[in-house]
Amino acid sequence: MFDDHNKIRNEFPILHQQVHGTPLAYLDNAATTQKPQCVLDEVINWYTRCNSNIHRAVHYLSQQATEKYEHARRTIQQFINAQHTHEIVFTHGTTEAINTIAFSLGETEIQAGDEILVSQIEHHANIVPWQLMAERKNARLKYIPLTTRGELDLTVLDDLLTKKTKIVAINHVSNALGTINPIREIIQKAHQQNIPVLIDAAQSVQHLPIDVQELDCEFLVFSGHKIYGPTGIGVMYGKESWLDRLPPYQSGGDMVDVVTMEKTTFNELPLKFEAGTTNYIGAVGLSRAVEYLNEIGLQNIQSHESRLYKYTMAKLRELENIEIYSNATESTAAISFNFPNAHPSDVGMILDKLGVAVRTGTHCTQPIMQYFNISGSVRASIAVYNNTDDIDQFIDALNRAGFMLQ
Ligand code: ALA
Repeated sequence: MFDDHNKIRNEFPILHQQVHGTPLAYLDNAATTQKPQCVLDEVINWYTRCNSNIHRAVHYLSQQATEKYEHARRTIQQFINAQHTHEIVFTHGTTEAINTIAFSLGETEIQAGDEILVSQIEHHANIVPWQLMAERKNARLKYIPLTTRGELDLTVLDDLLTKKTKIVAINHVSNALGTINPIREIIQKAHQQNIPVLIDAAQSVQHLPIDVQELDCEFLVFSGHKIYGPTGIGVMYGKESWLDRLPPYQSGGDMVDVVTMEKTTFNELPLKFEAGTTNYIGAVGLSRAVEYLNEIGLQNIQSHESRLYKYTMAKLRELENIEIYSNATESTAAISFNFPNAHPSDVGMILDKLGVAVRTGTHCTQPIMQYFNISGSVRASIAVYNNTDDIDQFIDALNRAGFMLQ
């Protein structure tokens, strides 16, 4: 718990503004988080004083930039407790990381008739790359189904994992529902059959401590912009043995060793997966964001957010005529709901006029919406800087929206 939560809030300049003449209550954090001043300063400072391309030149600025970029990689390694720094690949985000793994794995590990196991609770970014790969390789995509509580139905997991399953790809926390999935149990069951597991941690790494060695997952991916860092930067963690085994996804500069007109050999890890000029300043900004989180302490963040989540849920449940889809026993940060007779976009627009930012629509999770037989939902999602004033403003706005839309 924080002695002075306002101190944290004050570090995020964007929060201190009015929208439509009302103080901003920003509750769209699952879409993207706001940036603390230290991250903004780091990015501006780096562009202002040190900008230069990495890994390519012997001049001062390039050396500085390379050193800072590789320092960022070490910061991420420590943050998720990877065994080696070269197991950390910088990508443009979670989506690119999953596409990389789906493509590379598809190239060498997947034969016609093989199976890929995902779940019905995934973001499109953890469905569509596998669908495309399955189509290309004539493989089959299978899904762990949802239950009415918005949890994964693990009673069928043993049947879904077969000798043909070549990978399990699952999110840790659902962006739409906030469900915390039982990834340890899934990893353990998959490993009993020597099946590698990819964890999409885009919605968990900012809320829960992650230790990839303890989890023992083969791959884990996340985005910088959801963890208080810049946009356009993300992380693909892979166990050394797997990253060595997979072919590159994109090709071009920096990922090569020797290029002749006939043939190319590839660079070592992690550069084999970092083709072209990477978003090196994004990586530096992300590293600063991670340092900032370390300064606050993820355990403190977790207990603050857990308290706020319970507060929000209790207030939401007091509202009449509201349907809540986030009913998992283990959940965090995001809550999806509807007023049964109102379109989620109408609710979102009224909330916006009252200063409250939420996301409405399908949240890039159409299979979840199809399961609940809805066209979309309203989603409120919290971050470390939110407080009970934000939630009270949100609930008050919902009361008014509910009244207007009756
Ligand atoms: N994946 C982001 C969300 O859930 C954009 O809103």
